[in-house]
Amino acid sequence: MPVITCIDDLKRLHKRRTPKMFYDYAESGSYSEQTFRENTSDFAQIRLRQKVAVDMSGRSTESTMVGQKVAMPVALAPVGLTGMQRADGEIKAARAAAKFGVPFTLSTMSICSIEDVAEATQAPFWFQIYTLNDDKFNRDVLNRARAAGCSALVITVDLQILGQRHKDLKNGLTAPPKFTLPVLMDLATKWQWGLEMLGTKRRFFGNIVGHVEGVSNPSSLSTWTAEKFDPTLNWDKIKKLMDMWGGKVILKGILDVEDAEMAASVGADAIVVSNHGGRQLDGALSSIRVLPEIVSAVGNKTEVWLDSGIRSGQDVLKALALGAKGTMIGRAFVYGLGAMGEPGVTKALEVIQKELDISMALCGERNVHDLKRENLLIPQGFLNAYS
Ligand SMILES: Cc1cc2nc3c(=O)[nH]c(=O)nc-3n(C[C@H](O)[C@H](O)[C@H](O)COP(=O)(O)O)c2cc1C
Repeated sequence: MPVITCIDDLKRLHKRRTPKMFYDYAESGSYSEQTFRENTSDFAQIRLRQKVAVDMSGRSTESTMVGQKVAMPVALAPVGLTGMQRADGEIKAARAAAKFGVPFTLSTMSICSIEDVAEATQAPFWFQIYTLNDDKFNRDVLNRARAAGCSALVITVDLQILGQRHKDLKNGLTAPPKFTLPVLMDLATKWQWGLEMLGTKRRFFGNIVGHVEGVSNPSSLSTWTAEKFDPTLNWDKIKKLMDMWGGKVILKGILDVEDAEMAASVGADAIVVSNHGGRQLDGALSSIRVLPEIVSAVGNKTEVWLDSGIRSGQDVLKALALGAKGTMIGRAFVYGLGAMGEPGVTKALEVIQKELDISMALCGERNVHDLKRENLLIPQGFLNAYS
């Protein structure tokens, strides 16, 4: 295994080993990618306050997320087409997460199905639902997740329609890929990916194929979302879905205080302050910039988590210090998966936990629960720059 010291090392290997179409799918935001870029550049603007001569022994990154014990407050976010980054990618990522002691979330748009992941893993995982304009599918998929022992439902509320990602259109993104000349030329340099893919039967949208009818091109994500996602999703429907599930619910994709208040009032166990990794509304603010006002509005009513832009344990520290009770990572674990499969996801988690632990100690803290605003140095005007 090459020496991996940071998430960027995994990203470089991911790029080298994965077909361009799927690397680009992960490494893009919508439209001009302003929000995608600012998710990471805004984290970088926040600095850490060093404290010396503090007892650093007995440190802990352990916490809970919706009542579940976690080795650190970092869950794997739902990521569509994970099984195209590596063969059986969802199973590999779920196994790595379970062994590490953090939650894994399976996307509706996964390649491995709910049943595949349940069969291949022991620990319960979370299921993320995109609601379709097909009540039967919505009902059935919740029943399938319940039967598989999923311990929480993540309802994604920021993708009724798809923000355009230019690279996906230019690359002709499909799952599995169509063998055009440029794709074949690219695959010639990604032989390990191809060999592993030949060894699995899981190459289509596993939760969908055989469960939904009437889509003209089921391998195309953009056709899918345009034809099948429910554009009328509203708070009433969200509440009905929550009641239908009847268990723990996480509402993901909140960026606005009023929406956060609605989410808390319908009884979400947690909300994820998220702009979908900069993949939906280009021009929206970064998650870290809006986190503090959402924490102060609803932090005493529901758990507030954050995703979008986390690439290090220092980023996790910053989110926790600004009041998040938990975080999710998307690309950071996908880079690991694309780079080295299951060991790569484990490596991503190890890198982040170690960075969190060491940086926390150097900030003079011994427990993630003690992190607070005073551990940070924030540029003047950063948090109220926009109104
Ligand atoms: C390639 C990719 C696919 C994604 N697919 C989904 C999905 O199917 N469902 C969902 O709720 N969010 C999806 N997301 C958003 C992630 O759950 C998460 O919000 C985002 O990745 C966080 O930003 P980060 O990648 O900077 O950590 C996806 C993100 C990426 C990068």
